Amino acid sequence: MARVLLLVLAASLAALASSKGLPVLAPVTKDTATSLYTIPFHDGANLVLDVAGPLVWSTCDGGQPPAEIPCSSPTCLLANAYPAPGCPAPSCGSDRHDKPCTAYPYNPVTGACAAGSLFHTKFVANTTDGNKPVSKVNVGVVAACAPSKLLASLPRGSTGVAGLADSGLALPAQVASAQKVANRFLLCLPTGGLGVAIFGGGPLPWPQFTQSMDYTPLVAKGGSPAHYISLKSIKVENTRVPVSERALATGGVMLSTRLPYVLLRRDVYRPLVDAFTKALAAQPANGAPVARAVKPVAPFELCYDTKSLGNNLGGYWVPNVGLAVDGGSDWAMTGKNSMVDVKPGTACVAFVEMKGVEAGDGRAPAAILGGAQMEDFVLDFDMEKKRLGFSRLPQFTGCSSFNFAGST
Ligand SMILES: *[C@@H]1O[C@H](CO)[C@@H](O)[C@H](O)[C@H]1NC(C)=O
Repeated sequence: MARVLLLVLAASLAALASSKGLPVLAPVTKDTATSLYTIPFHDGANLVLDVAGPLVWSTCDGGQPPAEIPCSSPTCLLANAYPAPGCPAPSCGSDRHDKPCTAYPYNPVTGACAAGSLFHTKFVANTTDGNKPVSKVNVGVVAACAPSKLLASLPRGSTGVAGLADSGLALPAQVASAQKVANRFLLCLPTGGLGVAIFGGGPLPWPQFTQSMDYTPLVAKGGSPAHYISLKSIKVENTRVPVSERALATGGVMLSTRLPYVLLRRDVYRPLVDAFTKALAAQPANGAPVARAVKPVAPFELCYDTKSLGNNLGGYWVPNVGLAVDGGSDWAMTGKNSMVDVKPGTACVAFVEMKGVEAGDGRAPAAILGGAQMEDFVLDFDMEKKRLGFSRLPQFTGCSSFNFAGST
């Protein structure tokens, strides 16, 4: 009898263990007007994903009372660990023990910030076993309260931002501590249709892509919560672009979901664009049509008549660009990742020169990869192992084929 009881107990404990510690899945939508990505947070409230953001913030609608988090508490320190450029310096003043915490939520698009209190909210989503949704979960999250004017330039219907940076109050870290899962998230940003974000690591879906990912170290840059990787060289059609490894190392390569395209520091931009144009001009020798340049549309420098561009499975038939990342693998970009449709009949090379930054200035990243460079890749941001996995989805598919948020 005791044996049976023990068995029953063991079985129910096992069931408990398996219903706990599962990763949390959220469908990702791309907003066509802004090219930003959102996830449903709770009750129809959508938050904009900011892969470089250190906080979760939203408008409070006067409904939520501020959390009783004192200014001198560890949580408040975490909330203010990465003051955004141009925002007031956080301070507790002299009566520090009495004051409630003030955080400074930041709009990644406009650069505006505002003072706000912290409050307790919840992230309502489904857990997943890597194949299907398992159960609904309310993840308790500490967020910063923002005035509605901070929503300027964000997608219609969104109520704030979910930061995915490597910081204590970013969404991945909060899901990790609430759910007892890894501080790690998988991201598949869609070009259209649904993408997916999975917080907490494994069990990972799509073993055919997630078990054979290429990995590169995630590096931290002092004072910034963003995710950086290291680039060793850039290739255009397998020819190395004349940019020194030192130039690429100064400042590193930042990942951003704020911009739909890549920003490059002048010392990287010029040689890359020159190599790209040269390779494009050489393509007709391989049977490609002659690309006809048209009047550029800002902020882009090179634009073409889409009728004069060939198409293949990788998008427009343009030279392939390979980013040789630390660790030995290539982040390969086809026309899908290097071209952007700006208006009917016109597509531009999606590389933009950084403004207000000198060539070689290591205070600025050598490159900031944007949405176009990350879309239709499965990305594994593993903050525990400090590495980024990436795997390009096959041309015939997209993130949407893998979203099982609504399937049972
Ligand atoms: C959770 O999964 C169910 C289907 O199993 C779906 O109907 C629901 O929309 C999902 N909830 C969220 C918040 O994604």
